[in-house]
Amino acid sequence: MRIDRLLANQGIGSRSEVKALIRSGAVKVNGETVRDPGAPVDELRDAVELRGETLTYRKYVYIMMNKPAGVLSGGGGVPTDKTAAMLLPAAYAKFDLSPAGRLDKDSEGLLLLTNDGDFVHDTISPSKKVKKRYFIRVGGELTDADREAFEAGIILGDGTALKPAGLEILKAEGGLSEAVVTISEGKYHQVKRMVLARGKRVTYLKRLSIGALSLDMRLGPGEFRELTEEELEIVKSRG
Ligand code: URA
Repeated sequence: MRIDRLLANQGIGSRSEVKALIRSGAVKVNGETVRDPGAPVDELRDAVELRGETLTYRKYVYIMMNKPAGVLSGGGGVPTDKTAAMLLPAAYAKFDLSPAGRLDKDSEGLLLLTNDGDFVHDTISPSKKVKKRYFIRVGGELTDADREAFEAGIILGDGTALKPAGLEILKAEGGLSEAVVTISEGKYHQVKRMVLARGKRVTYLKRLSIGALSLDMRLGPGEFRELTEEELEIVKSRG
């Protein structure tokens, strides 16, 4: 890859800005100053320094976001819809990030955005049975019979038979409930449709975790950060 492209890909600046930087002598490859913006570099092997600081080439990016309501988790909506990736700084645009498991537009909580296609596949593939936990508020009082029905496997209105799921009822009084649902599939509107199959309606939904990875509760709606090395290990080990 050309050195100017590598630096632009890293978000150092626009192509013309990085060309100027290279010509000014700010960039070294394997300890040698390189002034030709077209000089080839091996992005995985060569040591590239910018003003004395070594750059590490990043192929993959993994972001944890607390998705706010009103934002799509990925593309596919009408052109005026805002997507989660649009909430990120422009430097991430070049990575073309997609969600590893979608959330509805009106849902909140843990959204993983990445350009690692294998990771996305392993997270959403039904065969991997990755557990997802959701906090829900419900119009109607959830009961032990609802919990038992979740545990036995809900049959949706269209006849789809779902795998056994968890329903931990936190509160059920005054015609309202709060609960934590655990599912290992990811069908369209799944949690809302499961609750609907029991004659009640989800009024609020927030994803708390995907596998062993929990949402960082310090992230407010719309806030994000990159996964730490430890978190990446955790999600990749499918703990
Ligand atoms: N289930 C739903 O119904 N909606 C979501 O956003 C996620 C799970």
